[in-house]
Amino acid sequence: MITDIHSHILFGVDDGAKDIEKAIEMLRVSVKSGVNRVVLTPHYNPSYGYNNIVGEPLVSRYKELCEAADKENMSVEIMLGMEIRADYDTAKLLSSGKLITLNGSKYPLIEFSHTDNAKKCEEILKELVSHGYSPVIAHPERFPFFFSQPWIAYDWLELGCHIQITRGSLFGSFGSSAKSASDYLLENSLVCCIASDCHGLNHRTPYMDDVYRYISDTISPEAARLLMRVNPDRITDNKEL
Ligand SMILES: [Fe+2]
Repeated sequence: MITDIHSHILFGVDDGAKDIEKAIEMLRVSVKSGVNRVVLTPHYNPSYGYNNIVGEPLVSRYKELCEAADKENMSVEIMLGMEIRADYDTAKLLSSGKLITLNGSKYPLIEFSHTDNAKKCEEILKELVSHGYSPVIAHPERFPFFFSQPWIAYDWLELGCHIQITRGSLFGSFGSSAKSASDYLLENSLVCCIASDCHGLNHRTPYMDDVYRYISDTISPEAARLLMRVNPDRITDNKEL
């Protein structure tokens, strides 16, 4: 079974599922592809107009979705988190309870942007670590400052951070540079987990079975289990990686 720690299934709060019907459809696809634990990670990204903080409507929509999934007898554990656009105030916003980590663990899901640079990212990551967090960095392979120098991942891991790559990057959906950077990260054992980062049903979908088989075939079945079950469970259960 698979644990997906990065999804935009929570409805009506960002550029993911538009309504509860779409969210349920996405969950169905997710479950069908072998996922039985999923973290909802709506964007906190003020520059894109996503100002989701802890509270309404996140909490009521989360409950509504859990109840709807229950009614459909879906065997899936649904957890709450956020995908946080990193900035210098991120550690403070987490500590004050305005933002949340993945399922209340010490692991926040942190996203950089296309305009960031390595120095700024390192400063923000250091600040988060000094506040006791272990950042999980979402899909760095998709950002130019990273894919032009993917070895900076070694510095991030040394700081105490972890790397999540996105399913679609491995299949070339985000271009050849993202694909090369993903391959580099996998070949050098720098990846902590692979997630869907699903936004809908047409592309960036919740389907995970194909990437599980891809990793099983190209690396090993043990690697697939580690990256899509064991490590994601350690994160959501707040255990050490
Ligand atoms: Fe995302």
